Amino acid sequence: MANKITFPHNFLWGAATSAYQIEGAWNKHGKGESIWDRFSHTPGNILNGDHGDVAADHYRLWKKDIALMKRIGLRAYRFSIAWTRILPGGRGKANQKGLDFYSRLVDGLLEAGIVPFVTLYHWDLPQALQDEGGWAVRSTAEAFADYANVVSRALGDRVQHWITHNEPAVVTWLGHEDGVHAPGIRNSAEAVRASHHLLLSHGWAVPLIRRNSPGAEVGITLNINWKAAASNSAADRNLTREQDGKWFRWFADPLYGRGYPSDMVEYFARCGALPQGLDFVQAGDMDSIASPTDFIGLNYYARELFRADASPNDPQTVFSYPQTPEHWTEMGWENYPDGLTGILCRVYFDYQPPKLYITENGASYSTPPDENGNVPDELRTRYLQTHFAAAHRAIQAGVPLAGYFVWSLLDNFEWAFGYSQRFGIIWVDFQTQKRILKDSAKWYRSVIRKNGIS
Ligand code: FCB
Repeated sequence: MANKITFPHNFLWGAATSAYQIEGAWNKHGKGESIWDRFSHTPGNILNGDHGDVAADHYRLWKKDIALMKRIGLRAYRFSIAWTRILPGGRGKANQKGLDFYSRLVDGLLEAGIVPFVTLYHWDLPQALQDEGGWAVRSTAEAFADYANVVSRALGDRVQHWITHNEPAVVTWLGHEDGVHAPGIRNSAEAVRASHHLLLSHGWAVPLIRRNSPGAEVGITLNINWKAAASNSAADRNLTREQDGKWFRWFADPLYGRGYPSDMVEYFARCGALPQGLDFVQAGDMDSIASPTDFIGLNYYARELFRADASPNDPQTVFSYPQTPEHWTEMGWENYPDGLTGILCRVYFDYQPPKLYITENGASYSTPPDENGNVPDELRTRYLQTHFAAAHRAIQAGVPLAGYFVWSLLDNFEWAFGYSQRFGIIWVDFQTQKRILKDSAKWYRSVIRKNGIS
């Protein structure tokens, strides 16, 4: 057929979620309080006062959700483990009920022929560890390694794909500098310390997971949007380089053995974020962080343009792109498929990871069910189709992309935006917990079946 794009044999088509965004049951069966429980229960933090107490009720409905995954034909499912279900106080004795939940979920997925991709940390630190200083202190990295050990011992015989952290840059900057995510801290110096302990905890976890889960693939997921200067001016280009350094190179460089980028050490020092220099880096840390991994996971959503004399986060008012819902998703994020080809080529050719996965990509559109009970979310379908094609161009250029996870399987709790943003390919009615496969999910089913798009 004309213009048919076929993906590599065994390409892992998947969908992704995270524990706090879908599970609910925030205090059931011995689960401890996490920083997202605390943050969302604190008035003023989340749009409309929303919280994840019930969310998509997946803790109760997981079997139904696996059945829906099967209907879509997913080959893989990426989900995260709630640390507080396993170790309610962050460390110590494991809560068997928590382990049992994930063990049953993994068995259910395997029975359905779906490959489980486990993320150990998708932002929900035990509040007890936050009370001891959270990611800004080194002991939290030690606690994470113990937690990774407990989980990989329990599931390592069946789970063959492990992601240590999801988007440590978002945890660092939105959680500790901007304060718009849990734990809501606004302190650049603490943020930089947190970034180091996040990376260190990853490095310490990798060999433990390998020991407990022989033959498994282990990696980490970083967020990377396509960042571009709005003009050729030195000011715009410098700002872009700084923002890319802060959000990507600060994390990717040490993971690939290059240490912290020196321009960013200077930049953070200039901004007052390194009052004691790099005193938190101890002998051996950088080697641990550079522990070899099997893949890198990338989360890609949009292009970000930078202009030095305007708010970098407000491209809609700065640039005169078409003001259409197709061009700007409901998050206000720019629909820019070429950026996906760009980031895949950049990361592969620059850092040479053995393998890459797109661990998140998707769009927020709130299209509701029509009178026939269908959800005609054409804009999401078009977004995905153009991004799949963009990923395929990177594969043709030689990038070993091995799978693609659509964000998200279900409409869910979108952090500070609460339930106002719907990224799901499955509609969730948060009153009744009824689910409907959106048209994008039905289209995705045909993509997976054909292993390609036309
Ligand atoms: C990513 C997060 C994910 C989801 C999407 C929209 O940054 O990893 O949980 O919120 O954005």
